[in-house]
Amino acid sequence: MRALVLAGGSGSRLHPLTSSMPKQLIPVANEPVLLHCLRNIRAMGIREVGIVDGRHGDQIRAALGDGSAWDLDLTYIRQHTPAGLADGVRLAAGFLGDEDFVLYLGDNVVVGDLAGAADEFRSSRVAAKLLLAKVADPSRYGVADVGPGGAVRAVVEKSPTPPSDLAIMGVYFFTREIHAAVHRIGPSPRGEFEITDAIQHLIDTGAAVTAQTFTGLWKDTGTVEDMLDCNRTLLDLLRPGVAGAVDAASAVHGDVTVERGARVSRSVLRGPLVVAAGAVVEDSEIGPYAAIGPDCEVREAVVRDSILLAGAVVRGRPPVTGQITDGRLRVTAPANPSARRSPA
Ligand code: G1P
Repeated sequence: MRALVLAGGSGSRLHPLTSSMPKQLIPVANEPVLLHCLRNIRAMGIREVGIVDGRHGDQIRAALGDGSAWDLDLTYIRQHTPAGLADGVRLAAGFLGDEDFVLYLGDNVVVGDLAGAADEFRSSRVAAKLLLAKVADPSRYGVADVGPGGAVRAVVEKSPTPPSDLAIMGVYFFTREIHAAVHRIGPSPRGEFEITDAIQHLIDTGAAVTAQTFTGLWKDTGTVEDMLDCNRTLLDLLRPGVAGAVDAASAVHGDVTVERGARVSRSVLRGPLVVAAGAVVEDSEIGPYAAIGPDCEVREAVVRDSILLAGAVVRGRPPVTGQITDGRLRVTAPANPSARRSPA
């Protein structure tokens, strides 16, 4: 079994940050989302991974290299225009050959047992297996209508009247049957070749498509609020430990991780939080729910519920709250919660 990770896409809901970096490299709890994906893929027993990247693909290639650091063998495939998930599968046909594969969206964060789902797929021999998660706002996602016994009767993409509240997660298992299907579909109203349409084509032509409700944590990190939500969840799961230098004039409350090589002086740290290697924090209040990236400089500042990208410099006021920032550019979670779930 191989894996195909889709990491193209324009990241439009995270502009302006994503004008200079791919959203898949934005870290949550100080690890790029894409690395979370690759760890889960390795845990499924898979080594050969194709990564479909887009206009910031060179950054992804620089960050991950040949994958050997994670015991993976990475092959990169360039998608010049973000034309949808099914287009990504089309482009990877040569890499995938006739093998079964897991299609993994590089902006999805999953915590839970995917290896068990992969094993079940390997033995079931269905054309496609979907993982579903109950959501409050199914019209934002692909949604499945599932019959008794887990057979999928229909799938729809971002429908204003979804048939259920079971969103299709960005982790799909396919046999080679999907390759014909991705060529039989046309573009959707949003102008993309949707994997959902290719799955519907499989169903329409009598192929077996099944689904399993996933019980772990799943989040599509398309928006800043989703990213910060993931950051909070993963910070909660982090095993705390102070290996860096925290001076006696600083106060530490709750679950705090300060990596070796980080330096904290005259500051208040309120966990959960992480301060990465090489970061300097002085005269500041950090947390709760702050991820300070490698080599950041934070002085006389307040940072709460935020992600500071590697090398970000933050000095003085105003407080950094509900933000992802590289120190210059920032995206901020909307203050009005009803605006948080609007699609791009
Ligand atoms: C894509 C799929 C959608 C799926 C979602 C999961 O949506 O089209 O069916 O539910 O990923 O993350 P997009 O992120 O492109 O809006």
